[in-house]
Amino acid sequence: MPDKILVCVAWPYANGDLHIGHIAGAYLPADVFARYQRLKGNEVLVVSGSDTHGTPITVRADQEGVTPRDIVDRFHPRFLETMQQLGISFDLFTETDTENHWAVTQDMFLRLLHNGYLYRDRMKALYCEKEQRFLPDRYVEGTCPHCGYTDARGDQCDNCGRTLDAVDLIEPRCKFDGTRPVARETEHFFLDLAKLNLPLLEWVKQKEGLWRPNVLNFTFNMLASGELRGRPITRDIAWGIPVPVAGFEDKRIYVWFDAVIGYFAATIEWAQITGRPEVWHDWWQNPAARHYYFIGKDNIPFHTVIWPAMLYGYGGLNLPYDVPANEYLNVEGRQLSKSRRWVIEVLDFLTRYDPDSLRYILTANMPEAKDLNFTWDEFVRRNNDELVATWGNLANRVLTFAFRNFAGRVPEPGPLQEADEALLKKVDGGFAVVGDLLDGCHFKAAVTEAMGLAQEANRYLNDRAPWQQIKSDRAAAARTIYVCLRVIDSLKTLFTPFLPFSCQRLHEYLGYQGNLFGQFRVEQIREKQKTHLALRFDPADSMNTWRPSSLAPGQALRQPAPLFKKLDDSIVAEEVQRMTSGR
Ligand code: MF3
Ligand code: ZN
Repeated sequence: MPDKILVCVAWPYANGDLHIGHIAGAYLPADVFARYQRLKGNEVLVVSGSDTHGTPITVRADQEGVTPRDIVDRFHPRFLETMQQLGISFDLFTETDTENHWAVTQDMFLRLLHNGYLYRDRMKALYCEKEQRFLPDRYVEGTCPHCGYTDARGDQCDNCGRTLDAVDLIEPRCKFDGTRPVARETEHFFLDLAKLNLPLLEWVKQKEGLWRPNVLNFTFNMLASGELRGRPITRDIAWGIPVPVAGFEDKRIYVWFDAVIGYFAATIEWAQITGRPEVWHDWWQNPAARHYYFIGKDNIPFHTVIWPAMLYGYGGLNLPYDVPANEYLNVEGRQLSKSRRWVIEVLDFLTRYDPDSLRYILTANMPEAKDLNFTWDEFVRRNNDELVATWGNLANRVLTFAFRNFAGRVPEPGPLQEADEALLKKVDGGFAVVGDLLDGCHFKAAVTEAMGLAQEANRYLNDRAPWQQIKSDRAAAARTIYVCLRVIDSLKTLFTPFLPFSCQRLHEYLGYQGNLFGQFRVEQIREKQKTHLALRFDPADSMNTWRPSSLAPGQALRQPAPLFKKLDDSIVAEEVQRMTSGR
């Protein structure tokens, strides 16, 4: 019986292009994990979409004098393009401004209300007297009450990472007119987290030894004191999902409340568009289905406390199994920041470099346990030394040699010798080693292990030197090449989750038919009133192939070409210059 694995990936705000920090933080680990699980024969569903509500969208719309929907319409299609170009294989990448998502969100709201997990209360919120309106979180800036950072946003401090309540900012200022807002009373719905504190604590205790220590500690610290307080889940704002309660017509559901529901709503949408509307039950009401959430560390509280609280209050739905949140990726020693113009945008990067090169460097450098640094220098070095010289050359040397000397076919090996068996055994053992690492979400270690096997194979090839053997002992050369072909075929599978594009080409050079993975398609999804674009991926061909090569002698190979391109050292200075000049 295959396992059912739901891969949930953070919903990016549709207010700007994705940069390599987003990719290293959530999208790439999710994709590597999903591709591996599919290869293993498990049933995998990967969902996410554009986060379209809240002040991150309206702030940009206000700045440009356009509607929030205009902003979403600009960036959502670019996300679809980014995911396709980088091979992030979403079964469904949708968005939150859909009829389905609105309905599922309002249903969850009402059910939580009915079950006694929402309450109404009055609270103080910041009000701009000049504009005569309440200022939602990101419309206010000020000094962080925790760390003293003077440019903290109303919802979160970029310096210390804490989530904030805008009324707690010291010396708050309106983002638009700079005036000092005043605190005023307003009524909102609150999620009754106090009621859920104990059950959540009991649940999180069971995650010891499974969750990453940073995720576990952070969550445990929030819950351990038993002092969780209710959090407002509605806002005085015009853009968002209407509150389904009379008297709240001027307010909207808070973006974080609706965004996390996206995982659930997207599963329902996916079930509908694949023509089996009932199958979402198998994913959300089946205790055997495991849910993984791939997110950046700033999203941890929403996924390990608030969303589980909502699921718990709703009743009967699966809680997260694992939340392998990543830390941050810095670039050239500095924190990535769109506003400070220190970013590497993915679509721009891919106009100059290959997707597998980016996937490789970001996996080899994945910030799983602590913040890590991306440098252009390391990008060039790893691309040239590891992808090109170690793995790419191994494959290319073997394939070219076989093509020239054995009439383009896998040679008949004859009886194998000890060293041949030893290498094959080592590489075959890689399926368990790399597989276990991937099952445990240790992506950096997994790719390093695979690259180590490629190195080992290079040593074997150099020791054997088939280019010498062929002069005096054709049978020995045939044996060496046969072993190496099997090894690169196995390594192809081990590398596929990380490097799907080049592994597909290698698959073809080795003479196989068909796709290791399916195809992307962009679809227009029509609802009663609205229409939206969604990205879908059909993974059909890739099931049950996470196992050592069984390449048969005699198989016809195809004319090979190098898998990767060597990069010139000069790009380091060029790229750093491009970044510092803000291009
Ligand atoms: N849009 C949020 C961000 O970019 C992430 C939302 S993740 C979800 O930080 F849980 F809400 F889906
Ligand atoms: Zn702070």
